[in-house]
Amino acid sequence: MTQEEFRAAADRAACWIASYMERIRDYPVLARVRSGEIAAQLPANGPEQGEDIGAVLDDFERIVVPGITHWNHPRFLAYFANSGTPPGMIAELLASALNVNAMVWRGSPAATELEQVTLRWLAQWLGLPPEWLGVIYDTASVSTLHALAAAREWADPRARSHGNPPGLTLYCSEQAHSSVEKAAIAIGIGQENVRKIAAGPQFQMNVEALEEALARDRQAGRRPFCIVATAGTTACAAIDPLAPIAALAERERIWLHVDAAYGGAFALLPQMRRLFEGWERADSVVVNPHKSLLTQVDLSVLYTRRPDILRRAFALVPDYLQTPAATINLMDYGVPLGRRFRALKLWFVMRCHGREGMAAILAGHVRLAQQFAMWVAEDERFELAIPAGFSLVCFRLRAPDEPNRALLDRLNESGVAFLSHTVLDGRFTLRLAVGNYQTNLDDLRAVWEKIRSLI
Ligand SMILES: Cc1ncc(COP(=O)(O)O)c(C=O)c1O
Repeated sequence: MTQEEFRAAADRAACWIASYMERIRDYPVLARVRSGEIAAQLPANGPEQGEDIGAVLDDFERIVVPGITHWNHPRFLAYFANSGTPPGMIAELLASALNVNAMVWRGSPAATELEQVTLRWLAQWLGLPPEWLGVIYDTASVSTLHALAAAREWADPRARSHGNPPGLTLYCSEQAHSSVEKAAIAIGIGQENVRKIAAGPQFQMNVEALEEALARDRQAGRRPFCIVATAGTTACAAIDPLAPIAALAERERIWLHVDAAYGGAFALLPQMRRLFEGWERADSVVVNPHKSLLTQVDLSVLYTRRPDILRRAFALVPDYLQTPAATINLMDYGVPLGRRFRALKLWFVMRCHGREGMAAILAGHVRLAQQFAMWVAEDERFELAIPAGFSLVCFRLRAPDEPNRALLDRLNESGVAFLSHTVLDGRFTLRLAVGNYQTNLDDLRAVWEKIRSLI
């Protein structure tokens, strides 16, 4: 590709993006294709000769876009809705041009140092101790996997060379995200050694039940090594009692990991900061800027007060990667050797929005969720499953599961919005998660009207 061809294609892509953002409300949120429909439009074999990028861009618009579920749509309200904001788009483009691999400091000093600086800013904004080390991974699932491996290293440094000792046991709420159990599987703890502690009526971990489980296991000669508390559960944004759990973990000398993948962003809001009291006593915390903090997928941050332990769990440097003393080589803090320059997009997003701008958007999301919850509460055909938490509303028809499921299907098929579901107290529950920077009151009003028209 010549430089002229590159400029023309990049101009075309930038124009497409600008008009996509302008016209995004015209798209059905959920892709309207059948399984296999996109693949059927693509040749079975890759091209022998290179093609003109214009033709590739044509097919992007003609074949790929119709198969897209529009996560950046203001009425994407499923799972934990997120935002890929324009500053992050520019940064992703630049990062792809630089194409650096931030495995060792000298592999790109700016990539390593920008990561450290942006994560220190973020820690300050969230009220986490600024001296903690932050490391960027792709997802919260991978951040949590690293936290659990560090917890094991702390509990028994011989595990790294000899494998897991018998009896290592992990504790989390029954509402914890499946990534916790998956991480336990991956590091060889085993599902049988994950204790899922009962949650109370507001879906928060029951600390007494946790204490009892620990005592029982100790008596049986087991080795409790990690507690995972959640600040913003996936199902309904519940927050486990962080301060009592932190006190218990300290007394028991057990690693405490806080999964704040979704909820953590809201610590940016002074009025919400108290909800996180106790997380500053944890050993590690995961926060996902790619969920609520206006940053493109993928970018998850693991903070830890014990960087030396995380490093001890993972550092393994072959000859060819030996480097002169440097500030820090981030490859030493995890499984991946190669690391994308993800910090660039976080830096762009943080600088272009500023703390106040990001807080204003998050506060807006909370207000929108509360407004929607109010409409639900005022309509006697519906009920809230639990008061709205952060920017998430869990609600349902006062009816059995089937009509609720049918309502959700009809809404999603309409293209007006995309919502997802969960099960709370054994009952099918609709979830509306506000997380896109363009979502406004008119969007939610349109969704609520649509829902009411479908019953
Ligand atoms: C509380 C919580 N933890 C972890 C995850 C996993 O996030 P990721 O997709 O970044 O692995 C999720 C996903 O929604 C979540 O809600």
